[in-house]
Amino acid sequence: MNMKLALIAGSNRTNASSTILLRYIASLLKARRIDVSFTDLYEQPLPFFTPDDWDFHPNVRQMISQVAEADGLILATPEYHGSVSGALKNALDYMSAEQVGGKPVLSVSAAGGPLGISSLTHLQAIVRNLHGVNGPEWISIGYGSNGFGPDGVPLDAGTRERVEGVVESFAKLAEVLAAGVAAVN
Ligand SMILES: Cc1cc2nc3c(=O)[nH]c(=O)nc-3n(C[C@H](O)[C@H](O)[C@H](O)COP(=O)(O)O)c2cc1C
Repeated sequence: MNMKLALIAGSNRTNASSTILLRYIASLLKARRIDVSFTDLYEQPLPFFTPDDWDFHPNVRQMISQVAEADGLILATPEYHGSVSGALKNALDYMSAEQVGGKPVLSVSAAGGPLGISSLTHLQAIVRNLHGVNGPEWISIGYGSNGFGPDGVPLDAGTRERVEGVVESFAKLAEVLAAGVAAVN
């Protein structure tokens, strides 16, 4: 059975660079015969999470079941005031260790400045609290590296190389962990 990864794009706008980057990452994974689910929080908005209502909206149920079925996650966020977007944090508030625990997670950000590192450190802290396994690398694009061609491929050769390298090593990590989980169960 193919490995499955759940991708969540956390920008709430059209033509978001983090979402275009995540779609490019999805294309690299599909080329490796990895199954990918894609939640775009702009196209599939979620209501504000409230612990008073556990009868979830269909978009929430779909996202949670895709994450639960996945062997790992890739989360993309815009850098907003040095942190993750409210849209992505809201999505993650619906989740628990039940879906994320023990799974590898790659964090990705897009910033207005050259890089968005604060959002990545915050995202990794959230992942740790969901008992996910933060990958050793991350990806950030920003001023100078956030241009894409009409085919959705990064224009900058260095960015392409970096993204492809990190995705390759994350896919290997996810495969090793998925094989280990299968062997234990
Ligand atoms: C509310 C808001 C806060 C932002 N804060 C930051 C910031 O702290 N650092 C930064 O480099 N860019 C910041 N930006 C710029 C965004 O990170 C930039 O536009 C990025 O491309 C957004 O990602 P997206 O294209 O995936 O939506 C901010 C933009 C907005 C709208």
